[in-house]
Amino acid sequence: MSLASDLTRLLGAAQVSIAPDVLTQHAADKWFASRVPEVVVFARTTADVSKTLRFASRRGIPVTPRGAGFGYVGGCVPVRGGIALSLARMQAIKEIHFEDGVAVVEPGVITGELQRAARERGLFYPPDPASLKDCSLGGNIATNAGGPRCLKYGVTRSYVLGLEVVLADGRVLRCGSRTHKNKTGFDLVGLFVGSEGLLGVVTEATLRLLPLPPARASLSASFHSFGEAASAVQEIFRAGFLPAALEIADAFTLQSAREHCGTAIVPAGEGHVLIDLDGQEDSVRGEAKALAKLLKKLGALHLKEALGEVACEQLWELRRKFSESLKATGLTKLNEDIVVPRGRLVDLAEFAAHLRHKYGYPVACFGHAGDGNIHTNIMAANYHSDPKVKRRVDKALDELFTWVLSVGGVITGEHGIGLAKKPWWPQAASATSRSVHAALKTALDPHGVLNPGKFVASAKR
Ligand code: LAC
Ligand code: ZN
Repeated sequence: MSLASDLTRLLGAAQVSIAPDVLTQHAADKWFASRVPEVVVFARTTADVSKTLRFASRRGIPVTPRGAGFGYVGGCVPVRGGIALSLARMQAIKEIHFEDGVAVVEPGVITGELQRAARERGLFYPPDPASLKDCSLGGNIATNAGGPRCLKYGVTRSYVLGLEVVLADGRVLRCGSRTHKNKTGFDLVGLFVGSEGLLGVVTEATLRLLPLPPARASLSASFHSFGEAASAVQEIFRAGFLPAALEIADAFTLQSAREHCGTAIVPAGEGHVLIDLDGQEDSVRGEAKALAKLLKKLGALHLKEALGEVACEQLWELRRKFSESLKATGLTKLNEDIVVPRGRLVDLAEFAAHLRHKYGYPVACFGHAGDGNIHTNIMAANYHSDPKVKRRVDKALDELFTWVLSVGGVITGEHGIGLAKKPWWPQAASATSRSVHAALKTALDPHGVLNPGKFVASAKR
């Protein structure tokens, strides 16, 4: 009996597909690797997920859970084949409760949709990954996704109060609660957030919502150099500001944006800082004024200020176009999400210049400077077609990660390990840390069916 017909008997024909185009759609995310699964299961309920996992665990069939497929590291690529388990059809926002400050959602809800629904009720879900119009909350939980606003508000983990998780053997675990504090037992919620589909499948999440700040301002400032922009970041903190977001971009990123979007929205200069403030209107106006004064004092070449959603979003258009502009160069963009201790931003810029000179590839840096989390993109022609280029770029990446670790940084801040960073996992985690990971994996998924082929294997397999 085939796998697909067994699953059809278990779940019903509408939830199982082996159509070639469906299999292909579930083979990859936004990274390069791809592997077609044998079958795609579209779960609609917790019971569907539970039945699928119980069946797969008994038979030792790989199950790779998947949200909207907008990851950047190949985390949901079903490298061992088997079942691609899509949560995309579990799309209900079950509840938004103002007084409790919570939302209860299914994993397939698109992040931007929850933000919109919360906003209508005067509430705010801060995590804002760049792909928020396309990515799902389940995927955000699996990668502990970040975004610009995480500087002031923290990453996805800070907003997950409770989870319903189906374990590898099909049991349903509810952990956490709908309270904003909870110290009952171990932090199981924290264990599953960021576990990249290796420990369980999230079928419901209770998320913390904040009161919606009524006012927002943005400031866009350009500087002569990336170094000056990086120094401005420190001065902003020194003056006691905690912006909602504090983003930076380098010369190559700005030049690509000029070529792709025209010079009208890209100010002159080789470094750029974009700042968001939010809160009550009077304080936002006051802070924006004081910050503008500071930026001028720090040597800003061009300075633009915006107040209110629409005007702020216009200033953010440039930031949102960076990835697209870099891709429009025609070069392959190897998008890394390294984090350095924030005091090492200027050193990172210097190291990027060193890589550029040594290997001869442009390196574009932009991103979440306030968190020390800079997207460091090595840009290479013919990366996929010429093995020599690939070897050389991989060597440059290796040098980058080794340096980042040597200064106390980490190889991923918001995208995850997936397949893209798997080669560096042994370097990034100590032997003891890796054995703790393996022990947890073995305890929760002894047959190693959940997302196999990624950075942790079950000890029994
Ligand atoms: C961003 C993605 C790459 O910040 O994380 O644009
Ligand atoms: Zn980012």
